[in-house]
Amino acid sequence: MKVTVIGAGNVGATVANVVAQRELANEVVLLDIKEGVAEGKALDIWQTSGINNFDTRVIGVTHDYSRTEASEVVVITSGLPRKPGMSRDDLISTNAEIVKSVTENVILHSPDSILIIVSNPLDVMTYCAYLNSKFPSHRVMGMAGILDTARYRAFIADALDTSPKDIQAMLLGGHGDTMVPLPRYTTVSGIPVTELIDETRLNAIVDRTKKGGGELVALMGTSAWYAPGAAAAQMVEAIVRDQNRILPVCAWLQGEYGLRDLYLGVPAVIGKNGIEKIVELKLNDHEMKMLHDSAGSVKEVMGVLDKLNSKKAFDF
Ligand code: LAC
Repeated sequence: MKVTVIGAGNVGATVANVVAQRELANEVVLLDIKEGVAEGKALDIWQTSGINNFDTRVIGVTHDYSRTEASEVVVITSGLPRKPGMSRDDLISTNAEIVKSVTENVILHSPDSILIIVSNPLDVMTYCAYLNSKFPSHRVMGMAGILDTARYRAFIADALDTSPKDIQAMLLGGHGDTMVPLPRYTTVSGIPVTELIDETRLNAIVDRTKKGGGELVALMGTSAWYAPGAAAAQMVEAIVRDQNRILPVCAWLQGEYGLRDLYLGVPAVIGKNGIEKIVELKLNDHEMKMLHDSAGSVKEVMGVLDKLNSKKAFDF
């Protein structure tokens, strides 16, 4: 089993580190365009192998896509991160160029791979990789929902002073302020969370979750990496171990939830073929409206990408 991680920034290096520590592959290739960075981080991770007891080989390369040959899973983290005051959408034109060229290089060497996109704006960059890879949609997905639910679960664990392990949650929509955490589908050891936390407090947690990425950008001056990296690694695990886990991921919708032709966060069964199945929840009117509002804002940013593409086609 071979996993490639494109981009050796904080998120990419964290994905490689978690994949290696959990021995999810025989080999992890970390690739970056900055000379020496991927080599250095890969060597550093590899030197933890004797301490953390893993034998997954960790290899770093500078822009040499031939070393990624025949990867089963490729995680794309390339692109600029957010700075304070920026929305994820502000990154679109720069990161679309990067994700396009990375995708083209990746598919040349790993035409049968499954792509997991982590670059922002997440939903639209996943769409960008889908368009440029021409892969079937079950082999192109984005990482956001696992991260956003993990934040939501961490906040609930804090509020209840309980273990996050016992908290199960689902969340829908785009990876932005319009995401839709679902208290009605949140339980603590099987107990509906609404029986344990009052509405006002729960609303505050939902609100904090929606702005969870921004909270970290404001604290650190750049975007987060431990939780995003661990979340992407969990998707890798579900695929390489064919776990058929139900996880919130960014998936191509073709009529599910009354939505079509867009990438958006929904629960899906993740196994060896990538997205094995999209799970449709029975949403109430309020939840459905929030999901459709979120889809509306993702569609708007998709439109910006489509316009950039058509302009280029025209110039050409
Ligand atoms: C975040 C970035 C990675 O939510 O989108 O932290």
